[in-house]
Amino acid sequence: MAKALVFFLRLCFQLLALPIYVLSLLGIWGPFCKKVFFPAFLEKFTVSYNRKTLRQKQELFGNLLAFAGLSGELRLLEIGTGTGSNFQFFPGNCKVICTDPNPHFQRSLAKSIAQNQHLRFDNFLVTPAEDLHQVADSSVDVVVSTLVLCSVRSVKGALSEVYRVLKPGGAFYFLEHVAADRSSWEYFWQQVYFPTWKLLFDGCCLTREIWTDLDKANFSDVKLQRIYVPLHWTPIQPHIIGYAVK
Ligand SMILES: C[S@@+](CC[C@H](N)C(=O)[O-])C[C@H]1O[C@@H](n2cnc3c(N)ncnc32)[C@H](O)[C@@H]1O
Repeated sequence: MAKALVFFLRLCFQLLALPIYVLSLLGIWGPFCKKVFFPAFLEKFTVSYNRKTLRQKQELFGNLLAFAGLSGELRLLEIGTGTGSNFQFFPGNCKVICTDPNPHFQRSLAKSIAQNQHLRFDNFLVTPAEDLHQVADSSVDVVVSTLVLCSVRSVKGALSEVYRVLKPGGAFYFLEHVAADRSSWEYFWQQVYFPTWKLLFDGCCLTREIWTDLDKANFSDVKLQRIYVPLHWTPIQPHIIGYAVK
């Protein structure tokens, strides 16, 4: 019964978004989304998201330097950097490698770089997290991911690359929206919105239980907390936050 209702409501939302499905079939929506819509949306969204997660991000990134090398410098790689919304939370003495498969964030990324002169930027790699082959094994102290694992094609593949590039004792920092409790109404609505949301927001999947992938990713210690980010009227309020040590 519940499955049939999900199916029916999904269809209703798909009908409402029909023009976008048609544009997608014509091959127009995909490139437009990546080049124009999503970068513009993300620039606005991250301002409000950072306001709502300010305390959590400050706390999370507050101990980054504990993972710095002997020289005191922290070699940090960020997957899915997007507009660079996390730069303000990274400490000085930090050398940042940015990576993202979408190269169309230049305008807002350049602005974030200019506003964060306390950081040294090493490189910008246009590549998905599942393929960090330009980065050597065991070469970075910390990898950061915020709101990225919902969009990667393979969470397992991305985490395996994260693990490979981290030095032994290095840490993977994450803040990710995840599936709600399976018995909740919120999960019901996440399933309803799933296909249309994914199409609108550049591949973002609403029902990933990312904590299970983290558990299976070989990290020696995973510090993980579940939090609710008050993004009212959206299906992306349940989050996990923490870090996993290699
Ligand atoms: C919601 S945005 C988050 C951006 C940024 N991390 C933040 O918190 O503001 C999702 C980002 O993941 C990127 N992304 C999508 N697929 C990816 C993949 N396979 N590997 C790495 N990043 C990916 C997108 O291009 C986008 O920049």
